[in-house]
Amino acid sequence: MKGVVLAGGLGTRLYPLTFATNKHLLPIYDKPMVYYPIETLVRAGIDEVIVVTGGPHAGHFLRVLKTGEELGLKHLAYTFQEKEGGIAEALSLCEDFAEGGPVAVILGDNTTDADISKAVKTFEAGARIFLKRVPDPERFGVAVFDPKDKKKIIKIEEKPKKPKSNFAVTGLYIYDHRVFDLIRKCKPSKRGELEITDVNNFYIKEGSMDWAILKGYWSDAGTFESLFKSSAFWARKNQKK
Ligand code: DAU
Repeated sequence: MKGVVLAGGLGTRLYPLTFATNKHLLPIYDKPMVYYPIETLVRAGIDEVIVVTGGPHAGHFLRVLKTGEELGLKHLAYTFQEKEGGIAEALSLCEDFAEGGPVAVILGDNTTDADISKAVKTFEAGARIFLKRVPDPERFGVAVFDPKDKKKIIKIEEKPKKPKSNFAVTGLYIYDHRVFDLIRKCKPSKRGELEITDVNNFYIKEGSMDWAILKGYWSDAGTFESLFKSSAFWARKNQKK
């Protein structure tokens, strides 16, 4: 399976840190943020990856990631998202790279020590998402479960004011190639973005989405607090080694 790291956007929530560089190149403890999602894919046996970037500092990625060889990649490609058109729009730019196959997608500001290799190997068709119980679900896409069948997700709500569960949809997704057709059907949301949550809801309606709990540590790092907490986690974890 090929991998996609989405590292576009302007990182405005982290101004002034992102005035002079891209959010995904900021440090999380001893490494640039974008190393972590790439390492998650490499641990899962994926060695062909595309990074979607954007914004005024996109060129910095080349200097940091180079050919990707040092991170264990056989093939590293880059593409450029012109505007902050949303996660699904960023993914749409990877259609040619996917060459008709499935893709494992990870958001460039998500770090996890979870091992998703089994989920990658056993994937056949449809979509697979990973959930994590969180204390602040209103910051995320949130799973809504069928009241009659607590294992069945009936929809995902994006940043609901009153979350119906505390299971956040993490920024790790596996899709079959139909994802690119589904993105073409998406309409921009109120915030003007093509939402990955709309794509996930298409798969849920169709009955072809499955899910698993992400084991281990997971966090985004797109706010000052989550950036700080992620650094603290990885510092502690590395010191224990
Ligand atoms: O972290 C998990 C959450 O990520 C999910 O629970 C939400 O459902 C999902 O919408 C997303 O929420 P955020 O509001 O945290 O997404 P954000 O806009 O911060 O974007 C996350 C990453 O996606 C960002 O680091 C880079 C990539 N991205 C985002 C946008 C808007 C792009 O590559 N292009 C974009 O246009």
